[in-house]
Amino acid sequence: MSKKHSSTVIGIDIGGTGIKGGIVDLEKGKLLGERFRVDTPQPATPQAVAKVVAQVVDELMTRPEAPSADSPVGVTFPAIISHGVALSAANVDPSWVGTNLDEVFSAELGREVEVVNDADAAGLAEARYGAGKDVKGTVLVITLGTGIGSAFIFNGKLIPNAELGHLEIDGFDAETRASAVARERDGIGWDEYAVRLQRYFSHVEFLFSPDLFIIGGGISKRSDEFLPQLDLRTKIIPAKLKNDAGIVGGALEAAIHFGHTK
Ligand code: BGC
Repeated sequence: MSKKHSSTVIGIDIGGTGIKGGIVDLEKGKLLGERFRVDTPQPATPQAVAKVVAQVVDELMTRPEAPSADSPVGVTFPAIISHGVALSAANVDPSWVGTNLDEVFSAELGREVEVVNDADAAGLAEARYGAGKDVKGTVLVITLGTGIGSAFIFNGKLIPNAELGHLEIDGFDAETRASAVARERDGIGWDEYAVRLQRYFSHVEFLFSPDLFIIGGGISKRSDEFLPQLDLRTKIIPAKLKNDAGIVGGALEAAIHFGHTK
């Protein structure tokens, strides 16, 4: 990477409805300029998504603040990602399972790519720049969205692929009861949702005795509606990076992986 822009890396956040990208200033943990978004193609197969990822990267690279053309790109994806390979497809096209995403995306982009689970990326960003900054011990970042994502952080380091949204609680896959989408689908109010979250978080707390819970996902903007109703030993606070956590965390993970930062 050239020295000029060595503290900026492109991050791309792949979601079910949109593929969003931004140029990330890794010193500040913030986007430089606006994010750029393209609808997720349907069906969202690996090849179709790779093309859109390339389109987003191309747009970002036309900007004056773009990083050097040989810098890596960080990409987030909502599935288990082990050494680049997707091992699950809870809310994405089943054709992803077994696909090496690092290879598919780097072939399309012609540059190094590191793919990371979406919640892990958000967790990493919160731990480095946001609500978990300088917190010692175990921090669990739980994202409430279409599913429930989770990031396990210990002393600022990510332990990847904790899939705590799929804990089985009372005979249910937890995310089918306590995700933000489950609340909308079941048409329940905040009080009833808080009861579901209480059941979920008290179980996770019992299993891991974390030092801090951070709540991410779009619903964290409404955390006043449900966080005060939860009765836990562990401090529980909303995420700070909001919509940009995935992009920032994806870029950070790529920079860590390719040795551009610790
Ligand atoms: C997936 C996780 C993902 C989470 C949030 C879950 O259904 O299994 O890998 O992080 O949804 O998107």
